[in-house]
Amino acid sequence: MSDLKKLFIKTYGCQMNVYDSERMAEAMAPEGYVVTEDAGEADLVLLNTCHIREKAGDKLYSDLGRLRPLKDARPDLKIGVAGCIAQAEGAEIMRRVPMVDLVVGPQAYHRLPALVRGAGDPVDTDFPVESKFDLLPVRKGKRGPTAFLTVQEGCDKFCAFCVVPYTRGAEVSRPVDRVLAEAQGLVERGVKDLTLLGQNVNAYHGQRDGADVGLAQLIGALAKIDGLERLRYTTSHPNDMADDLIEAHGTQPKLMPYLHLPVQSGSDRILKAMNRKHTAESYLRLIERFRDARPDILLTSDFIVGFPGETDADFEATLDLIRTVGFGMAYSFKYSARPGTPAAEKPELPAEVADARLQTLQALITKQQRAAQDAMVGRECHVLYEKAGRMPGQMVGKSDHLMAVHVTDATGQVGDLVRVKVTGASTNSLAAVPVV
Ligand code: SAH
Ligand code: SF4
Ligand code: F3S
Repeated sequence: MSDLKKLFIKTYGCQMNVYDSERMAEAMAPEGYVVTEDAGEADLVLLNTCHIREKAGDKLYSDLGRLRPLKDARPDLKIGVAGCIAQAEGAEIMRRVPMVDLVVGPQAYHRLPALVRGAGDPVDTDFPVESKFDLLPVRKGKRGPTAFLTVQEGCDKFCAFCVVPYTRGAEVSRPVDRVLAEAQGLVERGVKDLTLLGQNVNAYHGQRDGADVGLAQLIGALAKIDGLERLRYTTSHPNDMADDLIEAHGTQPKLMPYLHLPVQSGSDRILKAMNRKHTAESYLRLIERFRDARPDILLTSDFIVGFPGETDADFEATLDLIRTVGFGMAYSFKYSARPGTPAAEKPELPAEVADARLQTLQALITKQQRAAQDAMVGRECHVLYEKAGRMPGQMVGKSDHLMAVHVTDATGQVGDLVRVKVTGASTNSLAAVPVV
């Protein structure tokens, strides 16, 4: 009889949470926990939460409601809340939902095994001095060809609408050698495509042999790893863009022609109220420099519509910026007032105004996305196969520009990096055949 226990993790929010969930699963493996996709058979359920918008918080409490019958049927089932709501609300979560057994903030995951064993305070939302990353167990075992690797965490920018500086703490960069060792380990386990993560990843400032190392240099060092084929980084802030990083897009072949650069608004008045510290003009100049370095770079962004005080003219300025840039994809959100942030003090716009603007913006973005996809037809690119497609003889993966591609390839294997010719396009995916 095995005494293996089952762990179910649900991940909400950004890629950093995806990475953290994976690390939490690894932290629990030495405790005898294996991951299950079925909450119904779990001994431990972890909800790795996001606090970024109000809806994200609502989801946690409705999911906890759904776990109620499981906990009633099996009182020894442990339920833990992790992530950014855990950090923001702490013990409040257990007061509101007493069946929750533990609450663990994003900086305390290395203490998760002890918390689950029942040692100490069941609420751990400290910001410890030691880095959680280096206390978590080393990753082992074969895995898929793409991976995230957190190199920087936290944010000192304090955009007026955003909770991240409060939930993830101040900006911290991981030492270069740790990042290189983790990347090397991932490559040995089959990873070919690595996305470096940070809330402000381009503010990365690691140390190596006493010297400062920026993101471009880190990418240069990672690119030397044999077998690592592709590098990306996300998310960047326009104010932290260094010249050598822009240059790297023209000189480093492993750096993919893709950049996610959130702008939030195209109105200088709103950008100022948001405390973004860049203008529409400075953003456009930056985009031009990236395009000079790498003409085929695909640009994506984040937008918030309906920020307090946003007028029709401000919104028009945002649409103008979008028309000027031509994005390959973008995430857009209706402003959500977050407790504790400066913008939450200001009067909100009527919901129907924000809804209408969001629809207009999304229609424009969808048109641009479709144009970017259509422009690929007839062109060649590389696809890294991530899984078999739904049709027989079909493989699915991402192109250099991070577009999803369905390739007709009866002999393809997961992990193959294949040169293909694009034969068709829709808004969300491409069809292609291998180039022989
Ligand atoms: N560090 C990144 C991303 C942070 S969160 C950056 O600097 O842009 C991801 C996105 O969520 C943000 O880019 C923003 O568009 C959106 N967002 C953050 N707070 C929000 C809020 N209160 N309401 C609506 N959208 C928000
Ligand atoms: Fe939030 Fe602004 Fe920091 Fe991005 S830069 S995480 S939007 S405070
Ligand atoms: Fe959400 Fe926290 Fe990421 S608030 S977006 S999970 S940093």
